[in-house]
Amino acid sequence: PAIAPVKPSNLAENSFVKALAESSTLNSVPSQFAYANDSRGSHSDSIPIVDFSHLVAGTPDQRAKVLRDLDKACREWGFFVLVNHGIPESLLKAIIEASLEYFELPEETSGGTRPRVRPTLSNPAVAASSIRPTTGFTLWRDFVKSYVHPQFHCPEKPHKLRDVLAEFSEKTRSVARKLLQDIGENLGLEKGYVDEVLKLDSCFQLYAANYYPPCPQPDQAIGLPAHTDHGLLTFLIHNGVAGLQIQHNGEWFNTNSPQNSILVNTADHLEILSNGRYKSVRHRAVVNNEATRISVVMANGAAPDAVVEPAGALVEQDGRAYYHPMKFIEYVETMLSNRLQGKSNLDCIK
Ligand code: SIN
Ligand code: FE2
Repeated sequence: PAIAPVKPSNLAENSFVKALAESSTLNSVPSQFAYANDSRGSHSDSIPIVDFSHLVAGTPDQRAKVLRDLDKACREWGFFVLVNHGIPESLLKAIIEASLEYFELPEETSGGTRPRVRPTLSNPAVAASSIRPTTGFTLWRDFVKSYVHPQFHCPEKPHKLRDVLAEFSEKTRSVARKLLQDIGENLGLEKGYVDEVLKLDSCFQLYAANYYPPCPQPDQAIGLPAHTDHGLLTFLIHNGVAGLQIQHNGEWFNTNSPQNSILVNTADHLEILSNGRYKSVRHRAVVNNEATRISVVMANGAAPDAVVEPAGALVEQDGRAYYHPMKFIEYVETMLSNRLQGKSNLDCIK
């Protein structure tokens, strides 16, 4: 006999997508998730690779080459695969595992009421089921987010998450800082400029983990619709299941990454700082009907109180600033309300 599809009315308001996907009767996507999309992406071997080890310890020739790779990646793609970054593979595995354990906690312990909110300064660590209001449909995703720097916040459980996340935050922060210094050099900015104006000592970091269970009709739902990120550089790792697509020359590209690499994308504040030379790349997460995908994201930004604006030297070259100055944390925290109105925050300060 045919199995009846689960009706939205059968779903608890705040139920996790994980629980829904595991319900044995689910054979189609409930209407609240309906999002027709063409989730196919082009394959590309040309996604840039940046060898971090050559930036820190290469010969002058190697370093010069990688600086060029980095500039080209930021300028043409807004995206690159970072290899030989020095973050131990065991730590990457541990943060994926601890994040997975979070989603496997019984509902009572992993957040209770599951607020449909994002973290804010007053509520810096949250768990949530999928958020609907921005788009009118529910995302095929559960997630957890917390602010981890300059103040460290972390969900209480699973217990092992705290230490692993603290270490992951520290290690990614130092790699991001080094990349940003080199990006500053590529932009022709004075040595130390990026560190100083962005106040990278107390830079903002947001951890997010996303859980995308198998979906019975992957082209009828989406994990995350196309968006750009706040911040300077976003780092992303995953459990080996593909799903991240980036937009390049108007086309969607599947991303694939060698084991132990980190996917890096340039985000809104780098677009602002560079006065538009490096665009914040649009990306999305598509789902599949075979395997659960987990991604762990570290968004690396400026200090919460740093005012981010186009670098003076670049404004001089260009004859004008293409973006208005804005305090970093204000940008982050107004992003949601702008998205509610269907606007990108970046457009709002142009
Ligand atoms: C994100 O854009 O924040 C996450 C995308 C992904 O899960 O690949
Ligand atoms: Fe993103």
